[in-house]
Amino acid sequence: MPIKLDCEILKKEKIIEGIYKFTLKAEPIAKTAKAGNFIEIQVSTTGEPFLRRPISIYSIDDDKIEIIFQVKGKGTEILSEKKVGDVINVLGPLGYGTFSVDNYKKVAIIGGGIGTYPLYELAKQLKGKADVTMYMGFRNKDLVTLEKEFEDVCNKVVITTDDGSYKQKGFALDVLKEDCKKEKPDIIFACGPLPMLKAVQAFVLEENIPCEISLEERMGCGIGACLGCAVKVISGKEPRYGHVCKEGPVFKATDVEI
Ligand SMILES: Cc1cc2nc3c(=O)[nH]c(=O)nc-3n(C[C@H](O)[C@H](O)[C@H](O)COP(=O)(O)OP(=O)(O)OC[C@H]3O[C@@H](n4cnc5c(N)ncnc54)[C@H](O)[C@@H]3O)c2cc1C
Ligand code: FES
Repeated sequence: MPIKLDCEILKKEKIIEGIYKFTLKAEPIAKTAKAGNFIEIQVSTTGEPFLRRPISIYSIDDDKIEIIFQVKGKGTEILSEKKVGDVINVLGPLGYGTFSVDNYKKVAIIGGGIGTYPLYELAKQLKGKADVTMYMGFRNKDLVTLEKEFEDVCNKVVITTDDGSYKQKGFALDVLKEDCKKEKPDIIFACGPLPMLKAVQAFVLEENIPCEISLEERMGCGIGACLGCAVKVISGKEPRYGHVCKEGPVFKATDVEI
C-alpha cells in the first residue's frame, strides 16, 4: 500500500551534468518496495508545479531508497536544487506491475539512456541467481552512466553509443539480437525510450522470448485517478485501456500496445 512520507535527503550526488542521485531516508517505503516500483515526489510546497513528479526507485537498501533523475523541466530543476538535510514528500511505492525476480538461468536486461536506472535494483536482486547480461545504450560518451555499478552486479555489461564515441557504435538492441542468435535468454527486461521499447517488443514477439517492459508514460496523479497515463492492454479477450501507474509500470511485452 503506497504511503505519503516526508523523506530526508541523506546524500546528493551529481552523476554527470544534469543528472542527480539522491539517497532518501524512507524506511516504510524501502521495506515494501519491489524492483520496478516508482515514487511520486512533491517537488514544491508553494504552488507550481502542482503535480507530483514520478521517478523510479533506483536502489533499495534497508531503510533507504535511491533515485536518479535527469533535469527535464521545472519540476526536476526544483528537485535538483534541494540540499542534503532537506525533506521532500514522497508517495510510494507505486506501481502494481513490477519486474518478476524469478528463477532464471540466463537473463538479458536492456536499458536506453535514463531508462537504465529503473533496471538496477532488478539486476542487484538477480546477482548470483542468474547469468545476467546488461545491454546499455546511450546517445554519446558524455551521457554514459552507471557502467561500474552495473558491472558490479551483472556477469557482463555491453555498452553502445549511437555515435560510436564510447565502446560499440550502434544500438544496444542490435547487439542483443546478435547474442540471441547464439543463445536465447530465458527472459528479457527492458526500459528506455519508446522507439527502443517498440523495437524490443517487435523482436521478442517475433522470437517468442518472454519479456517485461517498464513504461515511463507521462503521469499526473500516479494512483489511477486522472487517466493521464492510459495504455492499450491486449491481454484479455477484448482490448481495453489500462493505467500505466496502477497496472504497470512493468508489463509483459505480450500484454500492451506501445
Ligand atoms: C513511472 C515513471 C518513472 C520515471 N522514472 C524516472 C527516473 O528514474 N529518472 C528520470 O530522470 N526520469 C524518470 N521519469 C520521467 C520523469 O518523471 C519526468 O522527466 C519528469 O516528470 C519531468 O518533470 P519536469 O517538471 O522536470 O518536466 P516537465 O516540465 O513536466 O516536462 C519537461 C519535458 O520533459 C518531457 N517529459 C515529461 N515527463 C516525461 C516522461 N514521463 N517521459 C518522457 N518525457 C517526459 C516533457 O514532454 C517536456 O518536454 C519517470 C517517469 C515515469 C512515468
Ligand atoms: S497518472 Fe493519473 S491515472 Fe495514471
